[in-house]
Formats: sequence, C-alpha cells, structure tokens
Amino acid sequence: MYLLIFASATISIWPMPVRARKLIRKMRGGAQAHLIEGEDGAFYVVKFTNNPQHRRILVNEWLACAFLRYLQIHVPETAIIELTQEFIQDSPELYLSLGLRREPIPAGLHFGSRMAVHPDRVAIYDFLPDKLLTKVENRADFLGILVFDKWIGNADSRQAVFFRARAKTWTPLKGEAPARVGFFAQMIDHGFAFNGSSWQFSDSPIQGLYFRTSVYDEVRSVDSFQPWLAMVENFPAEVVDSAWREIPSVWLQGDEEPLEQLLETLLRRRNRVGTLLQQVQQKRTTAFANWR
Ligand SMILES: Nc1ncnc2c1ncn2[C@@H]1O[C@H](COP(=O)(O)OP(=O)(O)OP(=O)(O)O)[C@@H](O)[C@H]1O
Ligand SMILES: [Mg+2]
Repeated sequence: MYLLIFASATISIWPMPVRARKLIRKMRGGAQAHLIEGEDGAFYVVKFTNNPQHRRILVNEWLACAFLRYLQIHVPETAIIELTQEFIQDSPELYLSLGLRREPIPAGLHFGSRMAVHPDRVAIYDFLPDKLLTKVENRADFLGILVFDKWIGNADSRQAVFFRARAKTWTPLKGEAPARVGFFAQMIDHGFAFNGSSWQFSDSPIQGLYFRTSVYDEVRSVDSFQPWLAMVENFPAEVVDSAWREIPSVWLQGDEEPLEQLLETLLRRRNRVGTLLQQVQQKRTTAFANWR
C-alpha cells in the first residue's frame, strides 16, 4: 500500500530556498553547523551536505521536524538554505575542520534550523537548571518528544534549547498556556533519527531520553504519553509523503530507494511505540520515577 504513496514517479515539491546573507559563527557539535543569517532576515543553524556526520542527517532533520510539526511539538522552523558561490568566496571562515584539514563547503542547498528569537537580543540556552526546568511552559512536550524519538529510532539522547517568550504564542497541545512571559523549550537536533546515517532502528531502551529525568515526573503509566501515542499510531502517511517530497535531490544522491524502504518501515512501526516505552520503564527504572 505504501509503495503507492512513495512511488518514485511522484513529483517533488521543493520549498523556496532561503539564500544565505551573512556568516555569523560556527556552532558547537559533531555536525559542525554554522549560524547564518538568511536573506529573509532570520538566523539559521545550518548543517551542510558534506558535514562530518553524514549527508543523510539533513534528510533526518527535515523529516523529523515536519513530523513533529504535525504532532504539535515545538520544533524550529526549517528551511533549505542556498549558499551561492559568491557567499562562499566572501566567507573565509566557512569551512569544516577534518583533523588538520579544512574542508570547503560546496555551493548549493543545505539544511537550516531557524532560531526562534534574535540571537543577539534574546538569550538561548542549551540547558536550564532543574528549578527552571520545572517551570518550562511546554514541559509536556518532553513526553510527546519521547514518543516521537522512540518511533523514529533516535539513537541520540534528547536535546532541546530554551528561551523566554510570551506564552500565548506558544500554547502546547496539553493544556492552555497563560498569556505571560515564560521559558519555552524547542526540540532540536534530529540528526540521529533512524540511527543516524545507518537508516535502521536499533531500539535501545536508553536512547532518546533527556538527561534530566525530572521532565518525566508526570509519567504514571504508558497512558501518560497520550495524546501523542494515539497520534503516532494514526500518523497519516500523507504527512510522511509530503515531507519526503520536499527533500532536495542533492541530499539524496542515490538514496531514494533506501529512503522509501525506511519510511515504509517507519509507518509499519507506528503501533510499536507503547511497547518501546514499556521497555524503557523495565530497563531504565530510574527514568520514570513515578511509574510504578
Ligand atoms: N533552531 C535552533 N535554535 C537555537 N539554537 C540552535 C538551533 N539549532 C541548533 N542550535 C544550537 O546549535 C548547536 C548545534 O546544533 P545540533 O545539536 O543540532 O548539532 P550537532 O552537531 O548535531 O550536535 P551533536 O554533536 O549533539 O550531534 C546546539 O547545541 C544548539 O546550541
Ligand atoms: Mg547536538
């Protein structure tokens, strides 16, 4: 059935790329992403097709963010970022460090994760102290994202960024947020979805967890992961299909068929997530302190 949906004859619909305007700085992390200002005035953390992790992580990022938007879990806006030859020539600080070697970035289309706030005006944090973590307005997203990470086989631990924003524009799925300024989390770094470049599902119980397990304090049973469990179980193949069709062909380079197979497997495992969460509870007893 899914073969029909992912038929190679399907026409690709690529979103308009955003042209890079200014290189700001290099970010930390294994993919050696760079912060770049786009011609639209927004700031993007850009991962390049020749990043040291693998070209496939761009595909993973693109698909994960599209699926997460459907699940109404806070993720950055994404864009296809176009680096022109001219931009590359004007940006001598733009390169990958491979040992002692400097690897140039090719002109063309790369992946951008948009910063929700202006990085010079609003502080963005990689971590929050426990006391503040309990006050994050969309804390429930940590339950939703675990459902998602189990489904998509995220082999990494969960990563998020935090910033202060006005609550009414960031209402989470579970409960209405008050119209006040508070901390919000955005789920980032989906490069190791599908076990990174291997495009397989290893399903280790410990993977996908956030390093501060206090975010799971509300978990009492597998039902605490609703409504996301049901949303994943009924995840529309059409959402998968339209995200897949947006992927630029330079990110695939012969990976079309393995990707099609991967996405078929993903749809087949929609109903496995409850079991995978039970396995976390059994094998990582410290993860869910209040699930007895
Ligand atoms: N949308 C975003 N908004 C704000 N900051 C971001 C965003 N995306 C990425 N970052 C920042 O850039 C850093 C690198 O991004 P990311 O973790 O995705 O890269 P990575 O190289 O895959 O990391 P890792 O080594 O964990 O695999 C993050 O630690 C975070 O600080
Ligand atoms: Mg990371």
